Amino acid sequence: MAVEWVRLKLDLDAFDDARFEPYLRSCRQTGVEFTTMAAVGDTAEHRRALYDLNKTCAADIPERGEFYTYDEYVAQRVETPTFDPRGVVLALDGESWIGMATTSIQPEGHAFSEMTGLLASHRGKGISLAMKLLAIRFARSQDARLLRTIHHPANTAAIGMNRRLGFVDDGPHVSTV
Ligand SMILES: CC(C)(COP(=O)(O)OP(=O)(O)OC[C@H]1O[C@@H](n2cnc3c(N)ncnc32)[C@H](O)[C@@H]1OP(=O)(O)O)[C@@H](O)C(=O)NCCC(=O)NCCS
Repeated sequence: MAVEWVRLKLDLDAFDDARFEPYLRSCRQTGVEFTTMAAVGDTAEHRRALYDLNKTCAADIPERGEFYTYDEYVAQRVETPTFDPRGVVLALDGESWIGMATTSIQPEGHAFSEMTGLLASHRGKGISLAMKLLAIRFARSQDARLLRTIHHPANTAAIGMNRRLGFVDDGPHVSTV
C-alpha cells in the first residue's frame, strides 16, 4: 500500500528559542539531565548504548519494520560523513539513557532531524521538546538555516511534537509503495 510520507521543515532564522527554554528548565528541575555523545565520548560502549536506545524507541515508529543489527547501525548511521557526535543529544535520568535527538548537517547546508526518541516510561513530559531545543541550537551553531525531517503519516506523536515546535509542511507529501 502507498505511504504518503510527511515532510516537515523549520525555519531556524525565525525559531524563537526563548519560547521553549522553559521545557529545558522544568525537565532539569525534575532531575533529567542533557548531554551529547561528544561530551560523554563517542566510544564503543556509548555507541552500543545509543543503538539500544534507538532500537527501543524505533519499535514505536509505525511500520518501521526490522531494526538494523548493531553492525549495520554503526555502518549506516554512525560511520557516515554526516554523523556528528555533537549533534547527538542525550537525555539522562541518573545513569540511564532515556532519550535521544540526532541531527546531521547535510552537504546542501540544511540540518536534518534523523531520530528523536524517548523511552515510553518518560513520554508526555516535554522532554522531547527540550531535546529538540538543544538539537536546534546545534543546527544553528553550524549555520544551518533550515531543519528538515520526514515522518510516516501515522506517527502522530512525532508530527505533533514537530508542529508544536513550529515545523510546517515541506512541499507535498512523498508517496512510496
Ligand atoms: C515522538 C516522541 C519523541 C515524543 O516524545 P514526548 O516526550 O512524549 O513528547 P512531549 O511530551 O515532549 O510532547 C511534545 C509535543 O508533542 C506533541 N505530542 C506528543 N505526543 C503526542 C501524541 N501522542 N499525539 C499527538 N501529539 C503528541 C504535543 O504537541 C506535545 O506538546 P504539548 O503536550 O505541549 O501539546 C515519542 O513519542 C517517541 O519516542 N516516539 C517513538 C519514536 C518516534 O516515533 N520518533 C520519531 C521518528 S524520528
